[in-house]
Order: sequence, then C-alpha cells, then structure tokens
Amino acid sequence: MTPRSLRVLLVGSGAREHALADAVRRSPLLGELHCAPGNPGLATAATCHPLAAVDVDGLVALATELRIDLVVVGPEAPLVAGLADGLRGVGVPVFGPGAAAARLEGSKRFAKDVMAAAGVPTAAARVAASPEAADAAIEALGGRVVVKADGLAAGKGVVVCDDAAAAREAARALLRGDLGQAGRTVLVEERLEGPEVSVLALCDGRTAVALAPAQDHKRIGDGDTGPNTGGMGAYSPVPGVDPEATADIVDRVHRPVLLELARRGVHFSGCLYAGLMLTPDGLRVLEFNVRLGDPEAQAILPRLDGDLLSRLYDAAVGRLTPEPLPVSADAAVTVVLASAGYPTAAAEPVPIDGVEAAADRPGVAVHHAGTALRDGRLVTAGGRVLTVTALGASIGAARTRAYDAADRISFDGLQRRSDIAAGAAGTARDAV
Ligand code: AMP
Ligand code: GLY
Repeated sequence: MTPRSLRVLLVGSGAREHALADAVRRSPLLGELHCAPGNPGLATAATCHPLAAVDVDGLVALATELRIDLVVVGPEAPLVAGLADGLRGVGVPVFGPGAAAARLEGSKRFAKDVMAAAGVPTAAARVAASPEAADAAIEALGGRVVVKADGLAAGKGVVVCDDAAAAREAARALLRGDLGQAGRTVLVEERLEGPEVSVLALCDGRTAVALAPAQDHKRIGDGDTGPNTGGMGAYSPVPGVDPEATADIVDRVHRPVLLELARRGVHFSGCLYAGLMLTPDGLRVLEFNVRLGDPEAQAILPRLDGDLLSRLYDAAVGRLTPEPLPVSADAAVTVVLASAGYPTAAAEPVPIDGVEAAADRPGVAVHHAGTALRDGRLVTAGGRVLTVTALGASIGAARTRAYDAADRISFDGLQRRSDIAAGAAGTARDAV
C-alpha cells in the first residue's frame, strides 16, 4: 500500500531537482517535501537541509530522523557513492539505483560490457590504459573516433575527434590524468553520425516506462560549437520520435539492459537515461545515465499530466505497472543561463535581476541551479545558474515564450545559446 501522504526527501541542488520539486508538488500524494542541500529556488518549494548530496551517512540519518517515505536522488555522484544502498539498508524506499547498477554511468567500459551481453546496439569500441594501446585502438577503428574517459567527468570526458592525430592527443591528455582518475582508462569509440535523442525510462528492476523523448544541446556555443557542457538547453517532444518509436526504443534498449543486470544479480530501480544516435544504420546507444538529465528533466517533467510521485514511489518499491504516463500535447523548450567562463572557469558571484519578471510570463517556469542569497540578494553561484522553461502549443511557440522570458533575466557575463530548439521549431510536430 502506498501511504496516503508521502514524506519525500529530494537530494540535489540543481535546476533538475527544482523541476522535480515542482512536479511532485502537483501530486495529491505529497505530504511533506524536504530537500538536501537545495538552493534558493528549492527553498521556496521544500524544506531545505544543509547536507551535501554525497554525504551518504548524513543523508541516511536525516531520512531516518524525518521518517521519510521516499527519497528521490537527482544527481549521479551520490548514486555512484552508494546512497541508494545506504537508504535501502535502513528500509527507506529510494528512487535511484544502488552503486552496482550506477556503474552503467560511472564506468563506460561496464556499460559497453552490459550492452554487448544484452544485444543492445552501440558504437564499436576498445578499451585502452596506455598511449600505445590507445594508438592501436585508434588505428583499428579507422582514425575518426571519439575518445572517452571511462569514469565520471561531469560531461567533460568525451572528445569527438576529426582525425587520428587529434584522437592520439585526446587520449594522451586523459591518460596522463588531465581529468583525474576518470581518464586513467579510456574508451576509443567509432565516430557515428546522425541526430541525437534522449529516451529516459522509469524502472523498477523489471518494468521500464518511457518518459517523453527530449533533445539537449551539449556544446556551449550556437551552431554546436565550442566545448561540451552539462547541457545548455533542451526540448521535448522530438519531431520524428513518436510514442511508438519511443516504446520500440525502450523494448530494444532499456528492457534488455534491466534483464541483463538482473541476470547478474543487479537491481536497477530509478531512471535509466539512454543517449542515442539515430544513424543511417539504425539506432545506437552513446551513453547511459542513471538519473534524469539536466536540462532534459526541465523540458520533460512540465509536460506530464499524470501523477509523477505515485510512479516514482512504485518504481522505488518494485511495483511499477507498464502503462505510459499521460503527457500533455504542449511542447516544452528549456534555455540554460550560465555564468561567464562556463564550462572552463569559475566566475565570481554577481547579482541576478529579473527572475520574477521572467517567471510571471504565461507558461513559464524558472528553475534555480547555481544561485545563492547574499544579504537577501540573489547572486550567481556556479556555472549553470538558472534554466527558463516555457510550454507552448508547438515547439516554435514554446521557444518564443522561453526566449521572451529569458530576455528579462540579466547578470554580468550571462551566457546562453540563442538556437535552442531552433532546428525543431519549424518541423511538423508529429511527436508527443
Ligand atoms: P556522451 O557523454 O557519451 O553522450 O557524449 C557526449 C556527446 O559526444 C554526445 O552527445 C555526442 O554528441 C558525442 N558523441 C559521443 N559518442 C559519440 C560517437 N560514438 N559518435 C559521435 N558522437 C559521439
Ligand atoms: N544533459 C545531459 C546530462 O544530464 O547528462
């Protein structure tokens, strides 16, 4: 039985968690909403507790003390560190996989191994732990490759290379420790071409229920230029990836992965996020994440018409039913506002203006990421500062609203892309 009034603890401090808070607050099942550590935006939606997201012992103690019925974990680092195992160990239901299953994101080599065993289509790849082995792998794969750090690198561990010389250079930089331990082993992968789509599914170990597909924009600059970031914007739905196509992807990717993990005695409960490329030879998985994407969540969650909290609880306690979540016909577009220097350098805090004016626009939600309050004034406190999401009757309409709202927000050094969803805005919207 689901308790009639759930006491929920949300772990994280980004715009994704702020959007999750908005979504669970729409549920009649919600009793109390707590968050750790949160941010100034989350503080208006939940009771925030000053504990780091990776403080496993502290969070287990907090969940026990608050008699929490469900913990929802936003970011990957606490999952890889075993937060979900710690919570399950004291009997607290948690939406998020244990450390063994979180290796799907924490080790690209492990993810490849699972995909090979499960028959999931992915790019051909070789593992290398020395420059010589990397050179041999680059040559074997024909020179045009992608070099990836095996471990977690906050979106910065992937180098898409135009030729073998660039690939050798990228592999050496990772292997000598430029990204710390994450790159001491690398994956050299064939470089694929095609549009990308993210398909996320709620999972309870056996059953996978797709969320609406989304597309993010990983590079810092317009026209997909400059370095990769955690994500500079997103939109949902993705034209051409209709509900049948999405269901087919879940059948071919998410379910086989759950089954292969189960065969190994590993239980995956939480959100399994597949980053896919639709190549001329069919779909290929580029990566797995073991949580909702940021900023994909901000574009996906406001479109949900059903009760997200009840499905998160069902996923956590292993009784997810396969029916799809009802989704609104509206599209959503999310624009990220980032600090000067992102993603390479940290900026000094500067005052932020216009958040309320933006949030007052019709169909708009502003979610906080790197913000802080200083003497009662909202200031920047991180690389990605805020996300602005708008709903609209089409991707084009949502896009116009999102930029119209984002125009009202200003701070020194603000960076944002001007082409989020631009490629999709003019297409027929044949997808929900
Ligand atoms: P990942 O973190 O593995 O999703 O990689 C980040 C980005 O690098 C992806 O969104 C793609 O744009 C690009 N990428 C990753 N793997 C490949 C590949 N095998 N071929 C072409 N591009 C790739
Ligand atoms: N936006 C990609 C991610 O959350 O990993």
